[in-house]
Amino acid sequence: MVLNLLLNGIFAFAFALVANAVSTKAGSTVNVDGIYYYVPATSVSSLGVSAEQLKAAASTGEDLIPLTVMTRNFSTFDVGTFESTIATFKDQDDVFSHGFLQVVYLISMTPAEIHAPLTETLYEYDNKLLMVSSAKNATSATSCTINIPNGPYFLSVYTGDIYQAYRLYSDYEGAFTEGTIDGPAGNFSALSASIPGVQSPTIGVPSRLYYTKTEAKPLAGVRLGVKDIFDVAGTRRGCGNRAYYDLYPEKNTTAPAVQRLIDAGAIIISKMKTSQFANGATATAGWVDYHSPFNARGDGYMDPSSSSSGPGAGIGAYSWLDLALGSDTGGSVRNPAQVNGAYGNRPTHGISPLSNVMP
Ligand SMILES: *[C@@H]1O[C@H](CO)[C@@H](O)[C@H](O)[C@H]1NC(C)=O
Ligand SMILES: *[C@@H]1O[C@H](CO)[C@@H](O)[C@H](O)[C@H]1NC(C)=O
Ligand SMILES: *[C@@H]1O[C@H](CO)[C@@H](O)[C@H](O)[C@H]1NC(C)=O
Ligand SMILES: *[C@@H]1O[C@H](CO)[C@@H](O)[C@H](O)[C@H]1NC(C)=O
Repeated sequence: MVLNLLLNGIFAFAFALVANAVSTKAGSTVNVDGIYYYVPATSVSSLGVSAEQLKAAASTGEDLIPLTVMTRNFSTFDVGTFESTIATFKDQDDVFSHGFLQVVYLISMTPAEIHAPLTETLYEYDNKLLMVSSAKNATSATSCTINIPNGPYFLSVYTGDIYQAYRLYSDYEGAFTEGTIDGPAGNFSALSASIPGVQSPTIGVPSRLYYTKTEAKPLAGVRLGVKDIFDVAGTRRGCGNRAYYDLYPEKNTTAPAVQRLIDAGAIIISKMKTSQFANGATATAGWVDYHSPFNARGDGYMDPSSSSSGPGAGIGAYSWLDLALGSDTGGSVRNPAQVNGAYGNRPTHGISPLSNVMP
């Protein structure tokens, strides 16, 4: 009787512990030829290839290996086409590198079309596995479950799942508050990766090769940083104040002004610094909770102006950031744009809704 009760008690206790434990994948960090990349927790496609085949291309114990997807769009695909495709990728994209040629997946090709000179060239690029698929939707062993654009990816050796590649950059000018990554259902989350050996926030950017601009999505793939007074669902809004950032939970809505840019195709990569509550502040005396961003112009230590200091300094400093959203009541975009050598636009009053924006 007593023993029974005790056992029940132990079971109930153990059950409660299991029921409360929540463990989720938060993505991984992989280093390719000295550059750090973030691999998100959610895959974009999958290959029906056996783990044994894939392991041939991996070092012992390695799970995520770099993969390049290429589509044949010429009648012939020879060494020249391969080399010019690589040159185009490198020219258009800062995420792709030769390291991703370790595994190559060629779409719209048949094995019969692969000739010796091409395999020799692939070998020179350290290619360990070449896969071909005669059609994007072919049901052969090596076809993607979901069509994906050309570009660099990571492939799981154990599952055959394919993940997008985000290159990690160090925010050495201090323009950002945190990196962000797209999540499910239009939500975002703070980037759970950091480059070791740097003392600045880490920002992740997806390959530019994934996106094609269209009439409906004129901003497709444009990398956007958002001043930290706008709500972005799934992330906290700090408004330049430490206590405020810690006090309130993640927002559940994205501000319409930001959503309009997302709808046009923009990719949110980060939240960006503002002077406290978007008041005017002079570097560095007025910056109490956080250090002012550095201004890349002049000696690198000049005031970046305020209050959209992060957006101004970030655009002035980084070629990997395309667009930054600030706000301007009394010069808060115009002044940082001017002193950081960036182009700033203060739109007409009322043209963009101000809901879900501080104040
Ligand atoms: C072939 O693909 C490359 C790289 O994606 C692209 O730049 C080029 O315009 C394409 N050519 C044709 C004929 O579609
Ligand atoms: C490929 O297959 C998917 C699912 O079967 C289908 O939705 C898609 O339209 C197909 N794409 C092409 C280009 O045929
Ligand atoms: C989106 O974020 C909000 C706020 O953090 C959260 O309540 C909600 O569950 C998230 N939704 C999804 C689909 O992740
Ligand atoms: C979103 O957050 C606001 C403010 O905290 C709250 O009033 C609202 O109920 C939340 N909405 C949902 C759908 O969770």
